[in-house]
Amino acid sequence: MKNLVEPEKHGLARTILRAAEHLPALKRMLKGMVGIKYFMPPVMHLKGIKHFLILPEKQSPEMRYPVVEERHDYRKIVIITGATSGIGKAFAHHFARQGYDLLITGRRRSIINSVAHEIRREYGVQVKVVIADLAVKEDLSSFLQIIDRQRNIEVLVNNAGYGMNRGFSEDEIGHQLAMMNVHVNAPLILIHKVLPQMIKKRNGTIINVSSMAAYFPASGSVMYTSTKSFLKSFSESLFLDVGRYGIRVQCLCPGFTNSDFHRDLNIQINRINNGLLPFMEPSDVVQYSVKCLEKGRVVCVPGFINRLLIILLSVIPRSLYYRFSLRLEKKVRRVKENTTMPVLQ
Ligand SMILES: NC(=O)c1ccc[n+]([C@@H]2O[C@H](COP(=O)([O-])OP(=O)(O)OC[C@H]3O[C@@H](n4cnc5c(N)ncnc54)[C@H](OP(=O)(O)O)[C@@H]3O)[C@@H](O)[C@H]2O)c1
Repeated sequence: MKNLVEPEKHGLARTILRAAEHLPALKRMLKGMVGIKYFMPPVMHLKGIKHFLILPEKQSPEMRYPVVEERHDYRKIVIITGATSGIGKAFAHHFARQGYDLLITGRRRSIINSVAHEIRREYGVQVKVVIADLAVKEDLSSFLQIIDRQRNIEVLVNNAGYGMNRGFSEDEIGHQLAMMNVHVNAPLILIHKVLPQMIKKRNGTIINVSSMAAYFPASGSVMYTSTKSFLKSFSESLFLDVGRYGIRVQCLCPGFTNSDFHRDLNIQINRINNGLLPFMEPSDVVQYSVKCLEKGRVVCVPGFINRLLIILLSVIPRSLYYRFSLRLEKKVRRVKENTTMPVLQ
């Protein structure tokens, strides 16, 4: 439905609408006054009656999520979890450069605030920061309430994640489940929250940052590899489910990347792989992710050597893979024991 008044051509109308953004009643009245949308009530009412007559469970997805053709001047928003550093921060810079407003999360308050400040100054976009530990239910609920108020979510990047030093059998179950919350539950809940909006608009992008570890079960990171593997399988199925609405879904599976990830783990990976697997820069990972989006690739593995390794290790017999994995794990343990790097807070 085309607006009778195009907001961007009427500076005063746009200013009034912006000011009224948080006052729904006043806004509705103002919109009516300037002739947007409410000049067409009969058509809208007909659509509404159709919805009342058919039970919700019998409605097709197209009926439940009718296409929204209305124009409005809300700016497009990208949500990125874990934008304090590394890949999330690189995504934040990428989308801000494209002119999107951002809603970013992290736990290290001062660092993420300075990331937001830097982005606002550099690209002139709006950046909202939410301090949230995604393993904590209350933090996730508050974040969801903030998302509820966003009208024009275009992209969701589920990036927040971390590695773990403790083995599954030796660790408390609570620690292990916390990883499940951050890598699995939070992305699922966030996707479920933004999907109706994206389906209505027949437009949207969801990027789930998994890992190459999704392909490689390992004794030292049982939950890490399993949760990342879930994310990969989930993303592919989700693509099959919502791709028909024009929603792009990507599972990004980076290999070793220069970020705070390994510093937090207190290990030096280059001493484990002897420099065989190169570290990528977060900006290169993001650039490759964008390339995959353009090509419509659902599973995206940045780095030629990483892709080669996945192919090689997937064709060898499983028993050989298990032996290789256990030997690597022994080496990791030795390096960890001999490493005295400070753990970041
Ligand atoms: N670096 C690698 O080699 C590598 C390889 C494959 C996959 N990945 C994946 O890439 C993603 C980004 O990692 P990165 O390499 O960019 O590491 P990073 O620099 O450590 O960034 C991780 C981000 O996730 C956030 N985060 C961690 N735990 C969180 C929690 N419980 N609640 C909320 N936010 C949390 C961190 O926020 P705060 O720091 O503010 O807490 C930070 O912003 C992760 O999902 C990781 O598994 C990384």
